[in-house]
Amino acid sequence: MQRIAIVDPTESTRESLRTLLLGVDFVWLEAECARYEYFYDVINQSMPDLAIVALDADKNRALQMIGQLAVDYPRLPILTISHDHQALLQSLQKGAKYFLTHPVGLEDMLSALRRALGDASHSDGSSSGSSSGQLGVAPRQSGAAIMVAVLGSRGGVGTTTLAVNLAATLACEPGNGVALVDLDLALGDADIALEVNGIENISIADLARNIERLDMNFLRRALVKHEATGLAILRHPLEIMEMGVIHEGHVERILNLLKISYSHLVLDLSKSLLPTDLMAMRMSDVILLTAQLELSSLRNVVRLIHCMGSEEGLAEKVRVVVNRVGAESIEEGISLKKAEEVIGKPIFWQIPNDTKPLIAARVAGAPLIKHSPKCRAQLAIAGLAHALSGKAGTGSSAELKTKRGFGLFGRR
Ligand SMILES: Nc1ncnc2c1ncn2[C@@H]1O[C@H](COP(=O)(O)OP(=O)(O)O)[C@@H](O)[C@H]1O
Ligand SMILES: [Mg+2]
Repeated sequence: MQRIAIVDPTESTRESLRTLLLGVDFVWLEAECARYEYFYDVINQSMPDLAIVALDADKNRALQMIGQLAVDYPRLPILTISHDHQALLQSLQKGAKYFLTHPVGLEDMLSALRRALGDASHSDGSSSGSSSGQLGVAPRQSGAAIMVAVLGSRGGVGTTTLAVNLAATLACEPGNGVALVDLDLALGDADIALEVNGIENISIADLARNIERLDMNFLRRALVKHEATGLAILRHPLEIMEMGVIHEGHVERILNLLKISYSHLVLDLSKSLLPTDLMAMRMSDVILLTAQLELSSLRNVVRLIHCMGSEEGLAEKVRVVVNRVGAESIEEGISLKKAEEVIGKPIFWQIPNDTKPLIAARVAGAPLIKHSPKCRAQLAIAGLAHALSGKAGTGSSAELKTKRGFGLFGRR
């Protein structure tokens, strides 16, 4: 999927251009801009694979901006559109490489896109020489984030705690751009665990309602930034009733867009196995299934893995994370070894019970990495983040063991 940014100050033609591009399955409309003077910044932030400039609203301004783009982003292909042949010629002189005359039909657009994007990928395999944008978005290699879904085996096992702290830990790693998506649509509370000051009250429900207009600019306005870590958060709907407007197709589209702009996505799922959760799991590289060493949680782990087995590719991605290891009040005398026997799968990770720092961090609305970076739970989560950063589902290293020896694949 290749990403496109367009600029056209005239609303009606911009809308037809958008509609045209929505019908092309190999491109993604990354950014849409209504002012020539803002387009340079849009390109700088979104680093698309192709820029499309409609010239007719103000040819002089458009040509001047193309000249500047061509100098600063010499590898960015620019496609211009106009009624005016003279203006199209001038745009080529300024540095545009492709043009189309108004009105543009789908066939013309398709062949221009194939040419422009094909040429760009043959020239050096990437469209831009510049680094990341200004919003904490990591440089993209091969264009896709590592996507980690976090699923609970029942309420209260620590799913949100894991999702939030894993995401915050990944976000603190230099070079990463991380987004946390609260897909616990009815009862999500990631925004409580991580206190954020929402400037705009846009939630995932608003994105779903306006899905045809969704581009990276709109999506960025909905993402709340956690200043201390740089983590971007997409919140659950503000009203529970709104969850009905969010369908799996919306989730697919939103995640696809996030995927090309961030290095890591962490998804806090609901416990209801809704179609939205299934879509998120389908799209994820790894599914962390959070459990505790007690009967109802472990039984649900077995049931969930069994249920996922009915769809190809899901169960293989599941990694069981046992949380609150060492909490005697919870564990009912079940050992990790016994749990592995019951589940029929190795325990991928263990997070020790660490009540004090977790309560304190939660009260402060801060992630452990900022509140108690040395606590045992955070050390275990940092080890998990490390393992997931390389290649999802792989990676283990003895030094990642926590102080009490609750390490990778380790047993008590
Ligand atoms: N490793 C841990 N040690 C101590 N308390 C924990 C740990 N993990 C989670 N908790 C606590 O358990 C409670 C439930 O966690 P939460 O993440 O909200 O669960 P879920 O999202 O699965 O419903 C929270 O109060 C949280 O602070
Ligand atoms: Mg939760």
